[in-house]
Amino acid sequence: AATGLVPFKDLAGAVPVGLPTNDDDPKRMHVLCYQGTWVLAPHLPGIVSIQRSFVSRHGDVVLTSPPKCGTTWLKALAFATMARGTYPPARADEHPLVRLNPHDCVPFMEMLFADGEGMGKMDALPSPRLMATHMHHSILPASIKDSADRKIIYICREPKDMVVSTWHFARRAYPDLPFSDLFEAFCDGTSATGPVWDHVLGYWNASKESPEKVLFLRYEEMLRDPAANVRRLARFVGQSLSPAEEEAGVAMDIVRLCSIENLRNLDINKATASSSSSRPFPNDSYFRKGEAGDWVNHMTPDMARRLDAVMEEKLRGSGLSF
Ligand code: A3P
Repeated sequence: AATGLVPFKDLAGAVPVGLPTNDDDPKRMHVLCYQGTWVLAPHLPGIVSIQRSFVSRHGDVVLTSPPKCGTTWLKALAFATMARGTYPPARADEHPLVRLNPHDCVPFMEMLFADGEGMGKMDALPSPRLMATHMHHSILPASIKDSADRKIIYICREPKDMVVSTWHFARRAYPDLPFSDLFEAFCDGTSATGPVWDHVLGYWNASKESPEKVLFLRYEEMLRDPAANVRRLARFVGQSLSPAEEEAGVAMDIVRLCSIENLRNLDINKATASSSSSRPFPNDSYFRKGEAGDWVNHMTPDMARRLDAVMEEKLRGSGLSF
């Protein structure tokens, strides 16, 4: 960590050298092993900067997830739920989610902090602030982890579906990425933000220890009953739906507004370019099938058994299973 006075701009980019890396594989996304977690190279300066400079605030809500587990959906749902006073979800035509991609409603901390100016931008946001990160629980700044009134909402997903979703997404940038290479990276823990078992276990254990601080959501449960999960989310952030809102069907309004059918048909989300210079992937790449179980179309039964066995072994004794 930095000690003494350092130029503000240097807080980002002052990353450790000599980290283990997969740099020799041009087909794969470039990852580095930082504090026991495999981070995407473009995210590392932001992570270092977050750890050094992020100061949380009363009421902050941090959305956390491994990539391709429903982050976009969670951003939309949390934003729509927490902003419902200002932007009623029933008036869907006027809602910000109709003109903005969910990633433009909730900042991604790793990229926001990449240029050393993230804290200034975060300071400018009014409370309550909503933000997102793919960081493991173990490397979150103490400012988020240690205060009871900073809330964390985590979402994870069945790991085989996560591999499939990651492959489709990554191929937008790495068209030659063999599915088997990505699969191997998941199994050996070196996939982006891996090891995936450590990612889920960190938040799982934190949610068991402090359920009022960490809400642990699963993509498949959200698909099964999205309205119940909107209510959970609202209660968790201290904004339970009132009897009048229940009567008016607000939970279902939020679910409809944030459904993949609705979002992916909006012009902003059909765009084959990115609406942000800090996000290299096009807007339409965040919306694909939005279903559970697509792994059967991509994995052999042997591959499925192997990843299941890895996860089972790593999660044994935790009370968590997929
Ligand atoms: P698939 O590739 O399996 O379709 P992330 O947002 O973390 O990048 O995750 C992307 C996955 O979430 C993709 O899964 C995508 O289709 C799905 N998704 C995006 N928006 C969604 C929504 N509103 N409802 C359900 N799933 C959604």
